[in-house]
This record gives sequence, C-alpha cells and structure tokens, in this order.
Amino acid sequence: MIENFTYQTPTKLYFGKDAIKDLPDVLGRFGKKVLLTYGGGSIKKIGLYDKVKELLKDFCIVELSGIEPNPKYDPSVITGAKLCKEHNIDVILAVGGGSVLDCSKAIAVCAKYDGEGWDILSRKVKATEALPIVDILTLAATGSEYDSGCVISNTALCDKRGYSNSLLYPVASFLDPTYTFSVSKWQTACGTADAINHTLEQFFSEPHSIFDDGVMIAAIKSLMENVKIALKTPDDYSARSELMYVCSWACNGMFANGMKDSGWPMHAIEHALSAFFDITHGAGLAIITPHWMREILSEKTVERFITLGSALFGFEKDLPDLEFANKVIDAFADFFFSIGIPKHLSEVGVKAEAIDAMADHIIEKDLSNRQLYVPLDREAVIRILKASM
Ligand code: NZQ
Ligand code: ZN
Repeated sequence: MIENFTYQTPTKLYFGKDAIKDLPDVLGRFGKKVLLTYGGGSIKKIGLYDKVKELLKDFCIVELSGIEPNPKYDPSVITGAKLCKEHNIDVILAVGGGSVLDCSKAIAVCAKYDGEGWDILSRKVKATEALPIVDILTLAATGSEYDSGCVISNTALCDKRGYSNSLLYPVASFLDPTYTFSVSKWQTACGTADAINHTLEQFFSEPHSIFDDGVMIAAIKSLMENVKIALKTPDDYSARSELMYVCSWACNGMFANGMKDSGWPMHAIEHALSAFFDITHGAGLAIITPHWMREILSEKTVERFITLGSALFGFEKDLPDLEFANKVIDAFADFFFSIGIPKHLSEVGVKAEAIDAMADHIIEKDLSNRQLYVPLDREAVIRILKASM
C-alpha cells in the first residue's frame, strides 16, 4: 500500500564523465559573482580546482576553503555568509563531499539573513530566502547533492544539527564518477555505509509495498556489491558510477514515498556521536546499526528482517523468525567489518564516559521531537550506545 504523499526534487543532475563542461552555462544563469567553496585540498590534488578555474575564467570568483568534515558553523558558515554579503555573491559553487555541500547550503540561508545564522539552523527563525547552490560532488555518500538538508556542527554548543528547507535543493549537481577515484578506502567504505543506512532508515517503517521494498533492496545490494569493487580497484568506473548514482537517490526521500517517516533514529544517535567526538559519520552509523537493529527486533519488526535476509543475503528461511532475524543482523555487522569499518565505537575515538550525556542530548535535541517507527527512550539509547562500545 502507498499512503498519500507529496514529493518534488527540483535539482537538475548532470551525470557522467566530463559533465562539468556545462558548468559555465548553468552558473551564468544566476550571475557572474560566485562563491567557490571547498575543503582541505583534495580538489587541488585531483586537478579539479584548476579545471573549475579555467572553465570559470570569465566569472568573478571569491573563495572559501578549508571546510572541515562535520562542517562547523564557526568559522566556516559565518565566514562564508559574510563573504556573500560583502561581495554581493549571486550563486554558490560547492566542490567537494557532503561537508562542503552542507556548509554551502547553510551559508546560502545565512547569507540572506541579517541576524545570527544559528537561529535559522536551529529553527528558531524561519528562513524565507537563500542563494542558489550549484555543486560538483567528489565523494559518493550523503546525498546532499540531491536533497534539501544540511548538517552543521556548533562546537561551542557541542551540537550537530540537521536542517532542511526546500530552498536548499541545489539547482544543479554535477556528478562525474571519475572525481571519486581518489577517495580513500576509509571514506569510500564510510560513504557507502552512510547510504546503506539512509536506505535502512526508510526501510524500517510502514506501510510496505512491493515496489518500495524492491527499490530499497536493490539500492543496498548495489551499494554492497560495488563498494567491494571500488575498494579493490579505486578507478573502476562502473562501480564508482553506480555508487554515486545510488548514494544520490538514497537520501532524498524518494525511497520512502508512500511510507510514514521512520524518524531516522540511527541518524539522531550518530549526530550526537559526531557532535561529541567529531567522528566520521558513516563509521558511527555502521557501528551502531546492528545494535539498533537488535534493540528494535520484535514481533512487530521481524518481518522487515526476514524480507532483507531472503532478498539481500539469499538466506533460506530454515530458522525460527527471531533467530533468522539475528542471523541477518550478524550479516550486516560482518559486511561493515569486511569493508574496513571497526565494530566498536571505542576504536573510532568515542569515550564510554560520555554515554549518559550523549543519551540526554539525543533524547532532548532530537528524539523527543520525532515520531519513531519503534520508539526509543533514554534507556534504550543507552543500551544501544553501550552495546556499540
Ligand atoms: O576536505 P577535502 O580535502 O576535500 O577531503 C575530504 C574529507 O577529508 C575527502 N574527500 C572528498 N572528496 C575526495 C576526498 N578525498 C580524496 N578524493 C576525493 N575526491 O573526504 C573527507 C570526508 O569528506 P566529507 O565531505 O566530510 O564526507 P561526506 O561526504 O561523507 O560528508 C559527511 C557530512 O555530511 C553529513 C554528515 O553528518 C557529515 O557532516 N550528512 C549530510 C546529509 C545531507 N546533507 O543530507 C545526510 C547525511 O546523513 C549526513 O548526516
Ligand atoms: Zn547519513
């Protein structure tokens, strides 16, 4: 069954080798003054920075570099918004991974607001305007290139906030899989784990349909198969192109059309881990996924595991339901480990002493405002975090 929904993704995708040849045309529609945003230098190493500068030689370019993973409100968003105002910027061009894109989206709304930008990102003030955003993606993971969300860390408040606004869909995203050949094994694995988790966050909801289930299972299958190839052969175009394509679809809500919003509980938990310990998003998700699964396993949810076990892993249904579900959960844990992600949060720098504080944060800042497919109280969150240590 498909419940009522409204859906629109206005972003135009330019996919494939040399797709950026259309960049000057696309940017020119908005004006000549461009804020070029990027991270710590990977785009220079792969020659993309020079290529962009060459293509945009007739534009007036102002640069914001050094955007960090888990992008920070202070200094990156504040500085970017200030640059946009000072230089009367027409359009933002984000070149990089999800962090650069997210930071650019936050800049786009903060640049059109005269007060404290965090008031918008923390939803105290409603944004009514944003600068247009165009991006060139260099890492397949978050889906920021095809959705309206951004996630920004405020280190002063030890907070990491998701913010979504339809003004923030990029107007155009350039997806050339060859730019992802240089992504490290770690980021390739974590990016893929992120997209698998995005799909699972939507799969664990209701009602179900053959179509939605089928699309999500195909997405996870594609991610699992292709990441193995990309890890072995980083410049395998076929694998990198499929990873890039599926990651873009996995977070824009399309998979869950006709289903209730699941509340995205694993993301609520992981964003606290990143806020407290600045860890890599996809790694945090991969580690907590099996433990969240065990926490929510029940008569109500067991069918979801059975569907995944048969369709995804090809398991014969030769065990009682709950045992079968546990076998499926083990298979997810083993898969994430097989692509190089450790099994314990302590291995990525999370400290057990912070569990209580993180649980408070997760409940207060996130879960208390959401309707979950399977509700989690403070004790449940603590159980998941402890089991993940
Ligand atoms: O900074 P540079 O030098 O560019 O290096 C980056 C960074 O160190 C590197 N990298 C990117 N492209 C590369 C490359 N290295 C070599 N070759 C390339 N082609 O990879 C590192 C990680 O980059 P980052 O952008 O942080 O990774 P990702 O794309 O996974 O983004 C993670 C951020 O997105 C948020 C996460 O919370 C996290 O802050 N998310 C955004 C979402 C959204 N907007 O919808 C949803 C997600 O659930 C997620 O929360
Ligand atoms: Zn994610």
